[in-house]
Amino acid sequence: MVDFNVNGKSAVITGGTRGLGLYCAEALVVNGASIVIITSRKAKAGEEARQYLLKKAEEANNSKCQVISIPADLSNDQDCLRFFEDSNKFLKGKLDILIANAGATWGAPLEQHQPEHLRKVLNLNVVALYHTIKLFVPLLEKATNLQDPSRILLMSSIISVTTSDHVGVYGYLASKAAVTHLGRNLAVQFGSRNINVNSIAPGFFPSKMANGLIEAAGSLMTDTNPRHRLGEKEDLQNLVLFLCSKQSNYLNGVFIPIDGGAHLNQPAAHF
Ligand SMILES: NC(=O)c1ccc[n+]([C@@H]2O[C@H](COP(=O)([O-])OP(=O)(O)OC[C@H]3O[C@@H](n4cnc5c(N)ncnc54)[C@H](OP(=O)(O)O)[C@@H]3O)[C@@H](O)[C@H]2O)c1
Repeated sequence: MVDFNVNGKSAVITGGTRGLGLYCAEALVVNGASIVIITSRKAKAGEEARQYLLKKAEEANNSKCQVISIPADLSNDQDCLRFFEDSNKFLKGKLDILIANAGATWGAPLEQHQPEHLRKVLNLNVVALYHTIKLFVPLLEKATNLQDPSRILLMSSIISVTTSDHVGVYGYLASKAAVTHLGRNLAVQFGSRNINVNSIAPGFFPSKMANGLIEAAGSLMTDTNPRHRLGEKEDLQNLVLFLCSKQSNYLNGVFIPIDGGAHLNQPAAHF
């Protein structure tokens, strides 16, 4: 029997207060993490997520797991730096897992889609993601061991490799293509520093960000998905657990679509 776990590992998850980030955080607290730090802009949402995760940890017999919420706006350089410094007070110079998940989108037809809309999306999805990684790399480097390197998971999107955009999420799709390619390059650069970098590319998972689009598409998303359903919490959690466990220690620089194969099916890809 293979036991996938993150026993004793520390983790930071940006945007870990809801949606996909919260799924990731839950996967780690219930599978042995010793400390999980989440962040988003809203303190109240952070505290609610923290309470939820503590309850999950307790139910999984991991009540020693520390769960910390540090509110911060990562798109603001100063706040991102403060988030790093506050996190490091708990991490004490070492970090095993960084999940760069926080992201936002903006959709509008070309005529109404202003450069400032792109700037805002790119600033969070690419610049803040890069800034966060840059700050935490020294801590990730300190936590490594050859059999079980530190991990960076980038939350990209399947949209980074599909074409067509009926909604006009110009900045979002460009940002996710940037994240995917950045991930491949960082994997090569950081591999020798004993940090593995892999990208996750979800299709549609219900969330605050995706629900509007899922609703507008009606049954199209599920009808055209080879698995005839949207992504579910456990789909993502199982992948994240594997990518953070020692069993995946030789997996570096991969881009993993998690969409039931929808990106290979033209109608789904072209909504
Ligand atoms: N859901 C999907 O179908 C799907 C598909 C492909 C990729 N993704 C990617 O998965 C990631 C999570 O998306 P989601 O669907 O879970 O969206 P979501 O429910 O909107 O969650 C986004 C998270 O990021 C946080 N956040 C937003 N702006 C922030 C900022 N400036 N600083 C710090 N935190 C910030 C949000 O909290 P606050 O608003 O409180 O700050 C929230 O915790 C994103 O990168 C998204 O592109 C999602």
